[in-house]
Amino acid sequence: ATNRTFTMIKPDAVANGHIGAILDQITKAGFKIVALKYTALPAEKAGEFYAVHKERGFFNDLVAFMSSGPIVAAILEKDNAIEDFRKLIGATDPSKAEEGTIRNRFAKSIDANAIHGSDSDENAEIEGNFFFSAFERF
Ligand code: CMP
Repeated sequence: ATNRTFTMIKPDAVANGHIGAILDQITKAGFKIVALKYTALPAEKAGEFYAVHKERGFFNDLVAFMSSGPIVAAILEKDNAIEDFRKLIGATDPSKAEEGTIRNRFAKSIDANAIHGSDSDENAEIEGNFFFSAFERF
């Protein structure tokens, strides 16, 4: 079924000038951009966004990194969006990401891993709602 996922181009990929190349790879893979925003996640907001990881050892580093610079947030639509997008971005750890995936091309480390992709329909909905109002989706 056609469905949606949520993504963020993370501060490392923005700082390294990869916004255009990443959006190009996403749209060429057949994803339609439903919503798009150049914004930032202040530490408090980053903590809220990643609340599910609160108890993990990497939580503080994750919040610090995600609030270190601007990001690009987007909602994407495609058949089988969640699974296909996770394939397109590659493994969380870029050293394990397949050749040609977005993390293989643009990410440097498990923290600075260039891009986020929702892991379920339910989380895509929650994460999209975190950044976008109804008037910002097309
Ligand atoms: P993402 O899945 O987008 O959101 C959680 C992030 O935590 C993940 O990307 C990684 O960038 C980061 N992270 C750091 N260390 C780990 C780890 N050991 N396991 C999973 N995620 C990690």
